[in-house]
Amino acid sequence: MKLHKADHVRGEITVPGDKSISHRSVMFGSIAKGTTEIHNFLESADCLSTIGCFRRMGIDIENKNGVVTVQGKGMHGLAAPAETLDCGNSGTTTRLISGILAPQNFDVTLTGDESIQKRPMKRIIEPLSMMGADIKSVRGNDCAPLRICGKPLAGIHYTSKVASAQVKSSILLAGLYADGLTSITEPQVSRNHTELMLKFFGAELESKGTTVTIWPATELFGNRIDVPGDISSSVYFVAAGLILPNSEVLIKNVGINPTRAGLIKVCEAMGADLPLLNEDHENAEPTADLLVRTSSLRGCVIEGDIIPTLIDELPTIAMMACFAEGTTVIRDAAELKVKESNRIAIMVENLRAMGADVEETEDGMIIHGGKPLHGAVIDSHKDHRIAMTFAVAALAADGETEIIDADCVDISYPAFYEELEKLTK
Ligand code: S3P
Repeated sequence: MKLHKADHVRGEITVPGDKSISHRSVMFGSIAKGTTEIHNFLESADCLSTIGCFRRMGIDIENKNGVVTVQGKGMHGLAAPAETLDCGNSGTTTRLISGILAPQNFDVTLTGDESIQKRPMKRIIEPLSMMGADIKSVRGNDCAPLRICGKPLAGIHYTSKVASAQVKSSILLAGLYADGLTSITEPQVSRNHTELMLKFFGAELESKGTTVTIWPATELFGNRIDVPGDISSSVYFVAAGLILPNSEVLIKNVGINPTRAGLIKVCEAMGADLPLLNEDHENAEPTADLLVRTSSLRGCVIEGDIIPTLIDELPTIAMMACFAEGTTVIRDAAELKVKESNRIAIMVENLRAMGADVEETEDGMIIHGGKPLHGAVIDSHKDHRIAMTFAVAALAADGETEIIDADCVDISYPAFYEELEKLTK
């Protein structure tokens, strides 16, 4: 994919449904009783991996005209799949499904693509094993494929070293089936979509500070879910609108759950013109329209508790920081190294290729803004967020930029390039 400098981005856009919420609505709908109707479901490769896994376990899931209908069979209604479950590129599918599968009365093997087979699974193997699960890394390297032999589980209290909603959700889902209470304490609060949606489906949970407790359940009840737009997909248009001249973009119906919306705070700290309009709710999830206008940005420090609330937006924020006056420091973000790619190393490599002044650190990056970027060949390493970040950088850089494996955007945003191009007209 080859991209060139653009004069502006202008117009209105509705980003696709939130990826985290789309995954959860299929998973929880499958183990709930009755029908779950999902509106604005994200039809991307990752979420289709989740649908594929539950279909293989006997759940009837229809996907018609943008509405996904899941005929839930209750907490004990899943059937043993005939083959290995393929989670594709999706960490959310792999880790959350493990929590659901550990307490079933059948055995299953989970795997995924090359990237998923390198991502750390010890973070779920350890707590699930403490609950009594029989879950093993088939190659003994703490990565997928995972072999899970269903067993009855007991509740635990777990203190996690990482703030990860995938780890938290895996434990909470296992806790639904466990004997006794299950709780997890994280170093910082991670996204809470699981807690909100499980409550909406009838589960009993309590969140206090960084600890969440779940009571065992006998039944969940399917419901209608309206998925808000994904703030992690909106970041590319936020960045484009802020850094390109003469720009104004209205991004409609974006999820602004406070455990996800660190992007908005950082943009404010950088001096962005970014008002929130029409604040509303979809189910328990807050939403707003984001109005983005060209802004003079300044560098800032991004660290501590805010990091889990913008973890997927950090690559794009790092790129934006190249267009800010002064220095931006990102720290406490070592989790970036274990995403779909090592997002610290790959951001630094690619930003440097475009002429940016960036330093790699143990747990983040230091970006010295203000150096103009020029076109380059960008290796996305098949990481969707890297490809989309550099498509935006290309619009603000002199010359031509070529993105290798650009089609990896299908993981979370299949129509991304067309939507971005429309705004440059
Ligand atoms: C997700 C949680 C985050 C995020 C990922 C989606 C989720 O991962 O990076 O894209 O849906 O729970 P971690 O939980 O590993 O931080």
